[in-house]
Amino acid sequence: MTKPLRVGIAGLGTVGASVIRLLDRQAKELASRTGRDIAVTGVCARDRSRERGVDFGGARWFDDPLDLARSADIDVFVELIGGAEGIARAAVEAALAAGKPVVTANKALLAAHGMALAAMAEERKVALAFEASVAGGIPVVKTLREGLAGNQIVRVYGILNGTCNYILSRMELEEMSFDACLADAQKLGYAEADPTFDIGGFDTAHKLAILATLAFGAAVDPGAIHVEGIQSITLDDLKAADELGYRIKLLGVAQRTALGIEQRVHPTMVPKSSAIARVMGVTNAVAIDADAVKELTLVGPGAGGEATASAVVADIADIARGVRSAPFGLPVASLDQSPRLPMQRHEGGYFIRLSVQDRPGAFAAIAQRMAERNISLESIMQRHAPRPAGAAAPGAPVPVMLITYATTETTIREALEAVVRDGFIAGAPQVIRIERE
Ligand code: HSE
Repeated sequence: MTKPLRVGIAGLGTVGASVIRLLDRQAKELASRTGRDIAVTGVCARDRSRERGVDFGGARWFDDPLDLARSADIDVFVELIGGAEGIARAAVEAALAAGKPVVTANKALLAAHGMALAAMAEERKVALAFEASVAGGIPVVKTLREGLAGNQIVRVYGILNGTCNYILSRMELEEMSFDACLADAQKLGYAEADPTFDIGGFDTAHKLAILATLAFGAAVDPGAIHVEGIQSITLDDLKAADELGYRIKLLGVAQRTALGIEQRVHPTMVPKSSAIARVMGVTNAVAIDADAVKELTLVGPGAGGEATASAVVADIADIARGVRSAPFGLPVASLDQSPRLPMQRHEGGYFIRLSVQDRPGAFAAIAQRMAERNISLESIMQRHAPRPAGAAAPGAPVPVMLITYATTETTIREALEAVVRDGFIAGAPQVIRIERE
């Protein structure tokens, strides 16, 4: 047998400890599958004294991740520290510069510096592997890069943040408040250290930037992603969606259109009958539309120690076997650098919730503003508490929900600005995009 692959792991949180346990538990199978033993020979974390419930065996302790990254005692560096900058970035760069393959779960790092790191890895002819960075245990990186290599991918979209899906699912099913659901997600360990990364859509955007690059061969460009989070979603929106046959999910969507590649993260209404709508709780899902395979939906755990460790160990196994692909599927120099499509050009259906003054002409004015811009309405729903007989108008504002057929973001925004100017509505309109299968 070839000599053992020596692994150095920086970051011994939930995922790091799970990787060590999994490598130990599957040691025999991994050795048979890869043709060599895999041994953890170096570890590093901030706090040496913390009890992690895991046996480091003969692994050498390093206080500094940079020393571990450059150590002659390891053949592969596993970065589980997190963060786009600072020590995580420096350690990954140090390992690559030393000609060592790197495995990382760090989506923020890849979104910010993926191109430069991939170029370094290519230059040194070593692997930069990141299956765990997107959708935890779902092997979507391999699916896009290797499994679907014979396809032209048209769209990739999904539920990429368990915290948001958990919050929206519980709000809908248990009519709980946003804050109570977020607190539970944090307690269960799904949320990022700063939960605005989750609920603001930024975590989804990091993952989408990676998926879009793999799917379309276009250079990672997180700055070109339109990002909206779930902060504005209310129980009223969830109930209205339900009545109209939809569910609301925070989706990351990357799509090839005739005008260019569109990348967006926002709360989205999806038909209740769709595969993605049925994904509840912390579970992630990635749907891929491609010419040969047509539709493919992968559903599974997007976070958690063992699930994420499963992806990290798969990457380590590839390195043990000597398998190495271009990190993003194509050499960095061949990736398309052309600008992405701005959100204003997005075309699709919209759900709009308005709080409308109960006055004659209000409805007609709204319909007029839509018609002027050629926006066709699929459905209109108005909730009206019965006005007591003889009561004087006007009454309190009433909720009105509209669903439009496909139109552009610019058109809908202009129409709603005109509706607001007409003065028939109270507060700001709620706008949720609709994504069809
Ligand atoms: N905070 C992330 C989530 C963890 O909620 O899905 C995995 O990236």
